[in-house]
Amino acid sequence: MPVPGYRDAPALPWQPEATVDSAEAAEFIRRVHTDQPGLGPAEPRLAEVAAEIAATGTYTHTPAELTHGARLAWRNASRCIGRLYWKSLVVRDRRHVTGADEIFSEVVDHLRTAGDRDRKVIRPVITIFAPAGPRKPYARIWNEQLVRYAGYRRPDGSVLGDPRYVDFTTAMAERGWQGKREAFDVLPVVVQTPGDGVRVFDLPDDAVWEVPLAHPDLPWFGDLNLRWHAVPAISNMRLSIGGVNYPLAPFNGWYLGTEIGGRNLADADRYNLLPLIAKLMGLDTGTERSLWRDRALIELNRAVLWSFDRAGARISDHHTESRHFITHCAKEEKAGRVVPADWTWIVPPVSGGITPVFHRYYAEIDQRPNFYLDEDARDLATSGRPQLHRPSPRPSPRPHQHALHQHPQPARCPARGRVPTPRLPLRPAVPQSR
Ligand code: ARG
Repeated sequence: MPVPGYRDAPALPWQPEATVDSAEAAEFIRRVHTDQPGLGPAEPRLAEVAAEIAATGTYTHTPAELTHGARLAWRNASRCIGRLYWKSLVVRDRRHVTGADEIFSEVVDHLRTAGDRDRKVIRPVITIFAPAGPRKPYARIWNEQLVRYAGYRRPDGSVLGDPRYVDFTTAMAERGWQGKREAFDVLPVVVQTPGDGVRVFDLPDDAVWEVPLAHPDLPWFGDLNLRWHAVPAISNMRLSIGGVNYPLAPFNGWYLGTEIGGRNLADADRYNLLPLIAKLMGLDTGTERSLWRDRALIELNRAVLWSFDRAGARISDHHTESRHFITHCAKEEKAGRVVPADWTWIVPPVSGGITPVFHRYYAEIDQRPNFYLDEDARDLATSGRPQLHRPSPRPSPRPHQHALHQHPQPARCPARGRVPTPRLPLRPAVPQSR
């Protein structure tokens, strides 16, 4: 039985118009009162919630419920290796904000709070906007993350920028957005609200912290002019708390180096930089036996970690974060809880077998509160176009990296690797010659 949210299994289809499930609501309220004895007994609140659901089909979370619910959703996010810090999530309650301009300005504030370049801190933050519900049209953001880079298809079929966002970029151009046509052009943010329709906003430069990449001992690396944004902020997942759904609740943590060095810049269908780096390192790319891919991959990952450290932008390495995840598991087990986790996402895409998370299995269960990626939200984030006639939910052809999540991979046998084969005629985003 495929478990929703694991591997290729989609989230359970969501009906925005449906009445809140009272059992799920009650279970959540009890959980909050058990975890936070200061709130007093659950019974009065349970009665209140039941009455509100009976009258309106939904109920309104108290600020304490909202905050705890969001933290529990993080704790239950099976693809996230960084859950040791779940209690530190900063929750911004913006349920009253509904206009597109106001939503966008909150998004900008979110990014400034999450990545504070002056103080050199990155904090995990979530901004929660109004929930969906019966007869309640809701706002959403189309983008997969608040900060992402455009991709432009060249006449010869190769791509400048991030190939993942070629269609999204085209759709934005059709709406009149103009990029600089460079390898790291920050895409605009699309806010859709019931009142204002679809609006496209450019992020102000000071809200986007970017880290230029260089290498501690390969002097030419800096000349590649690579960079990456410091704050990964997922913006198209639905936060589900006690039966109430928040389709617009962007959240961020800080990066694990391998997300950038092992996937975004390395994947053959993303920036595909390994062949270029190997060539510049003088490695023999004519044979797999030189392990040129692996050697280039390691130096790319060193560059990412070194550059983020140099910039004062918080980043984890996969060895440390793997140990922290094991600590998290031990803490949770001690508290009598299971840790839902998806091995295929938890194990880092670089040096998996030499991290402790590789050497065990995890409970594959769907626990709420949680974050869910709906099919239409996923399509919208790469296509930039609403699909009018969508077939019933189906698994994506190939999992892609997402969310709290650090790397998606096809379900695979741990003993075999995945050899990246370019699917498109890709050219690195940067010039081949020095
Ligand atoms: N893997 C995604 C990316 O590379 C980010 C997912 C969230 N990651 C995180 N560390 N919270 O952009």
